[in-house]
Parts: sequence; structure tokens; C-alpha cells
Amino acid sequence: MAADEQLIIVSNRGPAQFERGPDGERVVRRGGGGLVTALSGLATHRRVLWVASAMTEEDVAISEEAGGPVEVELEGITYDLELVASDPGAYDLFYNVIANPHLWFIQHYLWDLSNAPDIRAEEKEAWERGYTVVNEDIASCVLNRIEGQESPLVMLHDYHLYTAPALIREQRPDAFLHHFVHIPWPHADAWRVIPGRWREAIYRGLLANDIVGFHLPSYVHNFLDCCRELMEFEVDYTNDVVYHEGGETWIRAYPLGVDSDRLRRVADSSLIANYERELLSRRREHLILRVDRADLSKNILRGFTAFDQFLTDYPEFAEKVTFIAHLQPSRQDVPEYQEYLERIEALVAVVNHRHGTTDWMPIDLRIYENFLEAVARYKQYDLLIVNALFDGMNLVAKEAPAVRRGAQWARSGGAAKPQMA
Ligand code: F6P
Repeated sequence: MAADEQLIIVSNRGPAQFERGPDGERVVRRGGGGLVTALSGLATHRRVLWVASAMTEEDVAISEEAGGPVEVELEGITYDLELVASDPGAYDLFYNVIANPHLWFIQHYLWDLSNAPDIRAEEKEAWERGYTVVNEDIASCVLNRIEGQESPLVMLHDYHLYTAPALIREQRPDAFLHHFVHIPWPHADAWRVIPGRWREAIYRGLLANDIVGFHLPSYVHNFLDCCRELMEFEVDYTNDVVYHEGGETWIRAYPLGVDSDRLRRVADSSLIANYERELLSRRREHLILRVDRADLSKNILRGFTAFDQFLTDYPEFAEKVTFIAHLQPSRQDVPEYQEYLERIEALVAVVNHRHGTTDWMPIDLRIYENFLEAVARYKQYDLLIVNALFDGMNLVAKEAPAVRRGAQWARSGGAAKPQMA
């Protein structure tokens, strides 16, 4: 593919999202999460049209006003972004009933199977009137954009868009379709809890791609097993290929990294100076940090329990250590996520009450999204906690060490090792 040919990236959450600021002005914010982190680098190398769902009211307004792609500049990268506004009811069923929690929970082994999922008529309707509809909307936008293009390259992403590729393929047999799944692919049995109809649509949708990518070889292996066991397709385990009625699909592992140069530029910029100054003025001798979406898969409660135990076992650390838990609120319309956030707040209160003193709060819980402040914290931690139960690929574990002060020590072969405070 020539560098001036347009690459089409398609994902539910786009690189930017529009909101209203405090004075009613329109503001653009970076889309949260690992997918955006992993993909924004692509837009620095070639022309990218990014097709994404309109997720906020302001996104919908932009989508209606523009009627096509808009140019957005964010952190030095320019994107052509097309926001697809689905019917709000359909989008709610798609995002809050099917994609999260059903698909997310299955793929991260989060269900307590004796109780859930409890798939009844309502959930089945959510599949038909939500998941399927939003996938149709996205597929139809992509089809419009690639009309007239010869052998276009379309890269779809994640568990929100499993059925869209089959719809694109029906109309455009010549398109090169690539789908990257950013989350784990569990073993075949995990998929048996959903109705056969959903399973069929998911696998046929994914296999309409030329290539399906995962972060890890074990997910490739699980996917191949699923195609054989659940769909009875012929699978070549030597070359990682699935043969099906539509031809063949290559299954590959591409462990994604982060754009560390860009991160370091942000880390060195004046944009984070105030956050860093504030952190330095308040920090204790030792700084423990976690930065995560408030997601059940991140195993946040056990991290606090471990810290609680640590303070009990090593009382000499009292008043000398702070644990900053920088959590981005996530999927708050899904009851399981609301409840998880409540449990986090309650546990933090217990630990702080048990060990805190009049001028020391062991856990400093910050629940908001602020990428620049997270980068300032990445520069200053002594211990980073990443204890996810399952993660497609945890990018915090790559981002934070890339910018931590003294990271140049690691890059320079250990000449000037930083000391713990
Ligand atoms: O790959 C997982 C993902 O889609 C990433 O973008 C990110 O880690 C997270 O999920 C974002 O979730 P949401 O778009 O629901 O906030």
C-alpha cells in the first residue's frame, strides 16, 4: 500500500470525542483506553480516515452538521474522523447490554457462571435491535467511504464490531479487511453460554476478514480451536489459517506496543509541568501508582487488599508511602461497573480508616480521566501496580516505564541507576 493511499480505521471509540466545556464552548478530548493509545501512531505515518461511533451528544451534533468526515487535531496528530450516529436506543443496547457486559465479560472470564449471564428475551432483542443495528450503521458508513476505491484497505477493531466485516464483504469482495481484537480470546467453552445464533454471527463476521489479529499467540490458538470446535471449520494449526465457505482467513498474533517517542515528548512538555509540580510537593518518600479504567478485569480491589496487608505487615512504612489510584470512570450505565466503583470507594475508605493518620491518607483515590496528569504520575512512581486478571495487552505496563524518571538509566545500560527515595 502506498503511503498516500488512505487507510480506513474503524472502531467504536474514536481518537477524539466532542463535549461542551464549562462556558458552553465545544471542546475536543482524546478518546480513552488502550485502543486509541495503540492506534494513534498509525495516523502519523499515513492518511487515515477513522470511522467511529458518535458517543456523546456533541459527537452526534458534529456528525449531523458535517454529514461526513471532520478534520481533528489532537496532541500533534491530525485525523479525518467520521462519527456515525446510530439510533440512541439501539446504541444503548449495543454498548450497555451486549458489548459491555456480555462480550467483554465472556472474553475476560468475568461471569460467575452459576448466576450469569442470564440471557432472556430482552438480551436477545438487544442483540437484534442493538448490536446488529450499530454494526450495520458502521458497515454502511464504511461502504460509502470506499465506494469507487479499488481494493480498499479497511482495519476494523475490537469486540464491538464483530458482525460488520461480513456486511462489508457482501458488497465488496475485493476489499482487504483486517480485524484486530484488542482483548483476550477465551477457550471454546467460554463461548457456549451465548445463544448459537450470536456465536454463528460473531464467527462468520470475523471470518469475513482476510486477517484477524490478536495480541498473543495463545489467543490465536484459542480462536483456531473455537473455529474447529464450535463452527466445525477446517483449521491449519501450522500456518494459522481457517478455511470456510468464504475462502480462508489468516489468524495472527501482533503484540502491539506504544509510541514511546510521542509519550516522552508529552512527558517532557510544559503541558504536564503543573501536574508534576503539584505531585512533587505532596508526595511522600515512596509513591505507589496504578492507572486504570475502573474495570472489573483490572482487579483493582485485590490491589488495595494487598496494600492493606502490606501496611499491616510493615508498619515502618506508615506515613512514608502514598498509593495514588488514578482510575478513569468507565461504562457507568452498566450496573456491574457502577457496583464495582462503589466497592472500590468503600474498600479505600476502610483501608484509609484502618491505617491513616490525621495528616496521612494511605490511598489517594482519583476518579477521573486526565491523560496529562497520568503521564506526570508515570514520571514519578516508585512502584507501578498492574495486576489485571486478563488483559488483551496492558499498555499502562508499557507506557509508564517508558516515561518514568530515570528510564534513561534502563536505556543507557544502567550507568546511572536511580535510587528509591
Ligand atoms: O480493547 C479494549 C478497549 O476497546 C480499549 O479501547 C480500551 O481499553 C477500552 O476497551 C475502552 O473501553 P470503552 O470504549 O468502553 O471506554
